[in-house]
Amino acid sequence: MYAFTLTPGQPKPALYRDLVEAALAITQDEPDGVANMANCAALLSEYLPDLNWAGFYRMVEGVLVLGPFAGKPACIRIALGHGVCGTAAATGETQLVPDVHAFPGHIACDAASRSELVVPVHRNGAVIAVIDLDSPLPARFDADDAAGIEALAQALSGRI
Ligand code: SME
Repeated sequence: MYAFTLTPGQPKPALYRDLVEAALAITQDEPDGVANMANCAALLSEYLPDLNWAGFYRMVEGVLVLGPFAGKPACIRIALGHGVCGTAAATGETQLVPDVHAFPGHIACDAASRSELVVPVHRNGAVIAVIDLDSPLPARFDADDAAGIEALAQALSGRI
């Protein structure tokens, strides 16, 4: 059993520092990337408020393929450049989407989603996965969330 001192409601930079520390702790010395993504999806879902989906898509032979997540069943394969996830993977840049209905080509896996944050995970100059967070609240994510999840992506780069 893992016990963490994460305190929901604390200022976001502190919350994300704790979250990254917890993610590093639960993935330490574990070489299985699926296990590490599964525990980190659970961590994200458990400790970040107002999410309806949190998880990973992995780059497999040039396509994003669904990885471990917490939330409703989701679309399995996303082509590069398609949707928010495929845009993040194709550009290598974080996608902060305050209103998913205003994002051209947004892929609606859960009709409840209103805003979304997708952060690419880079390794050796390539995008190997994306971390996807969905919220039922409009404009749920801000620059602090983006910076926090980017720090998580960097921390997990060699562990997934
Ligand atoms: N909305 C995403 C698809 C993945 S689900 O949100 C889990 C997109 O547009 O790429």
